[in-house]
Amino acid sequence: MSIQLKSAAEIGKMRVAGRLAAEVLEMIGAHVEPGVSTGELDRICHRHIVDRQGAIPAPLNYKGFPKSICTSVNHVVCHGIPSDGKILKNGDIINIDITVIKDGYHGDTSKMFFVGTAPEHARRLVRVTRECLLKGIETALPGARLGDIGHVIQRHGESNHYSIVREYCGHGIGRGFHEDPQVLHYGAPGTGIELRPGMTFTIEPMLNAGSRHTRLSAADGWTVTTRDRRLSAQWEHTIAIGEDGCEVLTLREEER
Ligand code: MF3
Ligand code: CO
Ligand code: CO
Repeated sequence: MSIQLKSAAEIGKMRVAGRLAAEVLEMIGAHVEPGVSTGELDRICHRHIVDRQGAIPAPLNYKGFPKSICTSVNHVVCHGIPSDGKILKNGDIINIDITVIKDGYHGDTSKMFFVGTAPEHARRLVRVTRECLLKGIETALPGARLGDIGHVIQRHGESNHYSIVREYCGHGIGRGFHEDPQVLHYGAPGTGIELRPGMTFTIEPMLNAGSRHTRLSAADGWTVTTRDRRLSAQWEHTIAIGEDGCEVLTLREEER
């Protein structure tokens, strides 16, 4: 494992990329409504990233991924492929995951949206999953260990009677989309590598309403669903460890 510590200049570039990724999520919210297709959401984001931001949508052609964003609806855990045939309906929940490359550096962030009015059980899953991300971020201090982050996420999710997906995790990020280390969303305190200033990585917990087990679509090779077809939620931020805290590089205006 080789963790690339970023210089102040590199973190400056990651701040720009992170800001752009966050801005795409701010922009797309107005378009998430009953009747829109995930294919249309993809086109709107693609145009925004390429034409307005002068940036690159990192998923497009990444290991063969065919679209510019990931759209994961209801029981889709992650890596859902946008499609004109997938029309959002009232009560759906959707994760939109945006990764942009600007000046050689990546920013990666995702958010849950409600389509129209979602049922209370779905809203609760989405809220607790966001709380897991925020607790993970609060724990990401220099001198803490990766296992501390996983532990607080697992404890909060499971104490609310949800399960934590294990097959997919957060990751180092920078010039590479997915760098070392792997950031697990479960674990034991005091284990794993120590966090140091200059580390940049994502935290992106996925929580399931039912069992934690997932299935990878054999048909498209990407779409990950819950095995029991119950709901799943995910939120993601890219962060940088500093000398005495961490900075969220993908913070949205609504979170300030
Ligand atoms: N953005 C996802 C992540 O958080 C990765 C998507 S890879 C893709 O790591 F190919 F599916 F786009
Ligand atoms: Co990520
Ligand atoms: Co992502």
